[in-house]
Amino acid sequence: METPPPKPKRRVRYSGRNPRRFEDKYKELNPQKYPETLEKVLASGKTPAGTHRPICVAEVLQVLRPCPGELAVDATLGYGGHAAELLKAISPGGKLIGLDSDPIELPKTEQRLRGLGFGPEFLTVVHSNFAGLPRVLASMEIPGVDMILADLGCSSMQFDNPARGFSYKLEGPLDLRMNPNKGQPAFAWLSGLDQQDLEEVLQDNADEPHARLLSETIVRAHSQKPLTTTSELARVVKTAMQSLPLQRRESEDSGPLKRVFQALRIAVNEEFTALEMFLRFLPGCLKPGGRAAILTFHSGEDRRVKKAFQAGHREGVYSEIAEEVIRPTTEEIHGNPRASSAKLRWAIRAGQACLVLLFAIFAVK
Ligand SMILES: C[S@@+](CC[C@H](N)C(=O)[O-])C[C@H]1O[C@@H](n2cnc3c(N)ncnc32)[C@H](O)[C@@H]1O
Repeated sequence: METPPPKPKRRVRYSGRNPRRFEDKYKELNPQKYPETLEKVLASGKTPAGTHRPICVAEVLQVLRPCPGELAVDATLGYGGHAAELLKAISPGGKLIGLDSDPIELPKTEQRLRGLGFGPEFLTVVHSNFAGLPRVLASMEIPGVDMILADLGCSSMQFDNPARGFSYKLEGPLDLRMNPNKGQPAFAWLSGLDQQDLEEVLQDNADEPHARLLSETIVRAHSQKPLTTTSELARVVKTAMQSLPLQRRESEDSGPLKRVFQALRIAVNEEFTALEMFLRFLPGCLKPGGRAAILTFHSGEDRRVKKAFQAGHREGVYSEIAEEVIRPTTEEIHGNPRASSAKLRWAIRAGQACLVLLFAIFAVK
């Protein structure tokens, strides 16, 4: 008797209408169960969960001009995409120091880069806030490096992991810390604020047009019952928006949610303080002629970088700076919508001659 042909395997279905589990929502994390998904995710312009696609790579390499044998710093190592490209460009003989404040993703990135062949002779990984870069370099007895890259904000891995609480789209604790061993989670930080404080945070960190309304609603709701999860905060924001006229509400889409989460993230991680310190120390960490490139993702970051570079240029600390911001190409934005708000600025530290002149000017004064 002939054996019947095997029954085709049925596709594994979600148990409910709204998949809540991380591994069900992000099927590419489970290639055994969903083999064809990774390619599909990439082709649809999305970033596979647990990874990060580096932004403006060609533009970053063009402004940093890495050469074999040079010394580079990636101040925001993330998934290591930019770092891997820089490492290739500075070898043979070059070395990269990679910093990141995230103790959860950093060891995974180090392992991945080591797996690509970048051993300790090429790559040093340091768990540090980039505001501490001068200390890191001093501990290695490095007076200055040839190039420094900072790609600000969060990585996709941080956004995609519900346990980190970065995304209003995923249920998780309202935490939002890049370094969960430091500072307070967002829900605890919220408890110390009154309405005016929160209104200022929403305005300063996210240019939130509904800062008054949102701060009033959030502070009231939090005092009645602490908002400890991402979905609780998201629900309160949505409720507040319901009180606006329909037309206004519809034109907003998910804007208020994005901006509230961004504002809280910046505050909880003290991102502007760290960036301002980094910008102050940056020229001192570069060799004369050394290059810096900074990728920003919103106006508060870009404003600070632009001002610091312009002031450094006026004072002769930088010999050249970007006149205009560099934006990702339309193709890149199409392929990776997370690149859409990126802006790249660069600066070159003044050479020896300029610095001697500067010193002479100050000495005469
Ligand atoms: C946009 S991701 C960088 C992605 C990276 N360029 C890549 O190619 O994968 C930003 C990273 O910077 C880190 N970060 C943010 N602020 C930081 C700070 N003040 N000091 C050090 N790392 C920081 C975050 O933890 C995150 O991993």
